[in-house]
Amino acid sequence: MRLNPEPLISPERIAARVGEMAAQIRADYAGRRPLLLCVLKGAAFFTADLARALAMDTDLEFVRARSYVGTRSGGEVSLSRMDDLKITGRHVLLIEDIVDTGRTLSRLCGRLRDCEPASLALVTLLDKPGRREVPMRADYTGFEIGNQFVVGYGLDYEEQYRQLPGVYLLEED
Ligand code: XMP
Ligand code: MG
Repeated sequence: MRLNPEPLISPERIAARVGEMAAQIRADYAGRRPLLLCVLKGAAFFTADLARALAMDTDLEFVRARSYVGTRSGGEVSLSRMDDLKITGRHVLLIEDIVDTGRTLSRLCGRLRDCEPASLALVTLLDKPGRREVPMRADYTGFEIGNQFVVGYGLDYEEQYRQLPGVYLLEED
């Protein structure tokens, strides 16, 4: 796999869009204190920027979801860190890096709804609507992209490239 050095989404575009999403969420959650639930590891950078852009009182928690091996979704989604979460009665904003087949969020949302949050909304930086295998719509989406594999701004290929400031295409050699 080869990194295309031209960013698909530049750091400047990401920052501008994160600001817009934050303004929308701030308006929608005025008077409430949402719980930001970051899906590790991919959404870590996005969550950190969004939390600061929100500039409102929030709580921050983390879950870990794993499904990918290389550039292929393994099908099985494994979740960890779920046991420590206190989400009953909370307004939960679940924050993902990317929605692809929809399996990760579908599994995670099912588990979270069992805990009876006051509300549950999905926030994703990226969406690949053309790859959906289970129905899943985010409430707040940064950018829709095609069926390409992307890295950077938290997204990895075998733990590489998370630190890149923008989103880049990873292409076949
Ligand atoms: P599903 O298929 O469950 O996938 O919706 C969601 C998770 O798969 C990972 N994913 C990617 N990771 N570049 C990545 O670095 C991609 O293009 C990509 N597509 C899916 C990601 O972890 C996401 O949470
Ligand atoms: Mg992820």
